[in-house]
Amino acid sequence: MHFKMKFLLPAALLAASVGAASAATCEAVVESNDAMKYNVSEIAIDKSCKKFTVTLKHVGKQPKAAMGHNWVLTKAADQAGVNADGIKAGAGKDYLPAGDARVIAATKLIGGGETTSVSFDTSKLKSGEKYVFFCSFPGHSGLMKGTIKF
Ligand code: CO
Repeated sequence: MHFKMKFLLPAALLAASVGAASAATCEAVVESNDAMKYNVSEIAIDKSCKKFTVTLKHVGKQPKAAMGHNWVLTKAADQAGVNADGIKAGAGKDYLPAGDARVIAATKLIGGGETTSVSFDTSKLKSGEKYVFFCSFPGHSGLMKGTIKF
């Protein structure tokens, strides 16, 4: 029994890790902080993913009203317009225009210590189009912006 277990366990672990490596990861974790930054500048979305989930963590301590962060996905060409309209929409709307078709996905706005996530259908993304993610809190998207690799 002891002899058998010694050899079975490593084989099972190896099989599990190989399986995990070959399957596409259809999620990403993005950290944001009190220095107005995300910890990633590019997110790769594998075309085999039907749905993709982004989890946003605010690892800082500042409250939402002072250093709020969200994660908003739009076409690169729509980013400036959505950002401007979001600022007009105000804090009560998480700085996003309500029901705006240009917003492909967005988390709620969070403050320090909070975590949130959003899932979206990758069928909304088209090959060859350029997509970006950014924080729509006023003044943040200059530093808090990245690209989607799809
Ligand atoms: Co922000």
